[in-house]
Amino acid sequence: MGKTIAIYPGSFDPVTRGHMDIIERASKTVDHLIVGVLVNSAKSPLFTVEERVALLKQVTAQYPNVEIRSFEGLLVDFARASGAHILIRGLRAVTDFEYELQMSQTNHKLSPNVETMFLTTSIEYSYLSSTTVREIAAFGGDVTQFVPQAVAVELEKKMKSTRKKKESVTDE
Ligand code: PNS
Repeated sequence: MGKTIAIYPGSFDPVTRGHMDIIERASKTVDHLIVGVLVNSAKSPLFTVEERVALLKQVTAQYPNVEIRSFEGLLVDFARASGAHILIRGLRAVTDFEYELQMSQTNHKLSPNVETMFLTTSIEYSYLSSTTVREIAAFGGDVTQFVPQAVAVELEKKMKSTRKKKESVTDE
């Protein structure tokens, strides 16, 4: 039998401890895990795709079978090009279910030999999302318990530069 290659896709804007939990557990269940970072995840992501990829590479360096790549377009096309037949998604709560079901069924229709497998998020991260992390950071809150250390540092830098930009606009 060939190697089991899986893709864990997402926006990762930025990667949280919840994502890290899924990456660690998924990496133990497959031979090779590709973390797929969607290029245009939101109209204006906080971190550029290069920044999101670099951060993910840094915080997953300890996992030898984890690879970080960005992708554009359809996830199933990226899966096909990568030789992956498994998509991994994390489920936090029932509220995630409808969207995830729709996505997995659509992907399965588009590419019948691709299966989505769900990992339930560990209880301690079930409330966590990149959106809340960005909001906390924007208001100067402490995000260290929600994201890896390297991400907390980059978030702080990002917020400082955003504040500076805003100040220079209001000064004009
Ligand atoms: O972290 P997110 O934002 O919940 O991840 C969403 C993602 C990247 C998995 C999803 O938006 C995606 O796969 N986008 C690529 C476009 C695509 O394939 N769409 C059809 C499937 S619904």
